[in-house]
Amino acid sequence: MDIITEPSALGGRAREWARAGRQVGFVPTMGYLHAGHERLMALARERSEVVVASVFVNPTQFGPNEDLDAYPRDLDRDAALARRIGVDVLFAPRPEAMYAPEAATWVEVPALARHLCGASRPTHFRGVCTVVAKLFLLVRPTLAVFGQKDWQQLAIIRRMTADLGFGVEIVGAPIVREADGLALSSRNVRLTPAERAEAAAINQGLALAGELVRGGEGDVGRVLAAVRARYAAEMPSGTVDYLACVDPQTIEPVTTIAGPVLFAAAVQFSGARLIDNRFVDVK
Ligand code: PAJ
Repeated sequence: MDIITEPSALGGRAREWARAGRQVGFVPTMGYLHAGHERLMALARERSEVVVASVFVNPTQFGPNEDLDAYPRDLDRDAALARRIGVDVLFAPRPEAMYAPEAATWVEVPALARHLCGASRPTHFRGVCTVVAKLFLLVRPTLAVFGQKDWQQLAIIRRMTADLGFGVEIVGAPIVREADGLALSSRNVRLTPAERAEAAAINQGLALAGELVRGGEGDVGRVLAAVRARYAAEMPSGTVDYLACVDPQTIEPVTTIAGPVLFAAAVQFSGARLIDNRFVDVK
């Protein structure tokens, strides 16, 4: 596995792959890799001739009071994991190599960023879209894999990729969880032991929402109230940033269940804000 830090060097390699007609699979990450990222890389490995992963804690997707500096980093460990999965090229640029001081261009999909994380983090998704667009231009992948853990991000990337005609197949991968159901996240290491124990309730509350809907409850207000009560009882250290039911494609709020929905939550603990979601299809 090669570790490349210069965008121009990666661009050069990508042009060689394109000339040779190679299928290139790409997995963008912010590093501190875990089994969720590993699943994405394994999927890319199965489906492509060349696999590129990136590790870049993208400053433009963090708000001024967010955890950019505290975000966990360990490139040596990440490189070992990526090598073990069979990644061919790990791209780990410095922030200055990705953004010129005078950079002034943004890529955004405002219609899909109005709710959930877009409401709490108003500049987050334009940072995500801008960096993913830049990475797509460098890597020129055939396909790119994103996790359903960040469902809204996946929906936004799909829209951006179609709208800008990148010609990249966007593959969504299922959420990888700990034994107690907590979704794996690089930020989980920032939980205190007590918070870590409580955090399992995030997924349990979303599972409860799914059970209620499948049991015939169609009133979203009542479902969300039940989940909130569960969170209040089982997660005293967490502050619910949002708990919502939205259309899985448009990410617009749903009040009455008449088709597939997405329940999504964000919970703030002392050192980490965690998100999770559950897709519920009523049949
Ligand atoms: P990061 O949080 O590192 O996540 C990288 C990819 O891993 C994303 O597609 C995310 O959805 C996926 N992922 C994270 N935890 C997962 C889990 N438990 N199960 C399945 N997939 C999981 O998302 C980002 O980085 C950034 O916003 C990025 C797209 C790299 C742009 O900077």
